[in-house]
Amino acid sequence: MRIVREAVAERGRFAVALSGGHTPAGMYQLWAAKPYSDDTPWDRTHLFWGDERYVPQDDALSNFRTARELLISRVPIPPANVHPIPTVSAPPERSAEAYEADLRNFFAGQAPEFDLQLLGLGPEGHTASLFPGGAAIEEKHRWVVPVEVAATPPERLTLTPVVLNRGRNTFFLVSGGAKRTIVAALRDERDPQASRYPAARIQPQGRVLWFLDRAAAGQAAAG
Ligand code: 6PG
Repeated sequence: MRIVREAVAERGRFAVALSGGHTPAGMYQLWAAKPYSDDTPWDRTHLFWGDERYVPQDDALSNFRTARELLISRVPIPPANVHPIPTVSAPPERSAEAYEADLRNFFAGQAPEFDLQLLGLGPEGHTASLFPGGAAIEEKHRWVVPVEVAATPPERLTLTPVVLNRGRNTFFLVSGGAKRTIVAALRDERDPQASRYPAARIQPQGRVLWFLDRAAAGQAAAG
């Protein structure tokens, strides 16, 4: 909660970019419960997403839906403070432009520095929806782009490194034995900037913490 308190004290608000997939579900449930929910100034908290699948908000694959079910519906956050990535209401390119406009409006001409950004990790080294071999990891100007990726569903919208490399605090949340190999590969990465793994190429200017469960960390289960 120190990050939240510092952000509100220094900037009057706490801006967080949520990650997708299954891993953050546990963190959402924790955040929506005592004491964390009571300690969060929800009227000063703004929720964004690091990426979104190009599906309706009530689709089981929607990152917004997961957060709405496990967090947003359980806490007194003002609806205006929830900034979902628009999806099927417009073509992907228009949705990306609309979300970038929302971000630029929120950051009011300042750099897009999230106080906290949650990031996941795919088994082949993707993070957000920045996948190996994709052009989005090389993006130098746009904050949000549509992508077609080798995953289900293939159409997605993602923040680019232009934003993700400015995060003040970044938490990588990684769980499960399927991530053990990629976690080890990232640990052994000698030249992250040249890595084929997008997760290695994201080098935020602020603090980066990795939260791994034992399976992802490659440790034996607790005896
Ligand atoms: C998404 C993501 C993606 C996710 C990883 C890990 O929309 O899928 O944001 O980067 O964080 O694929 O997903 P799991 O937590 O489901 O393993």
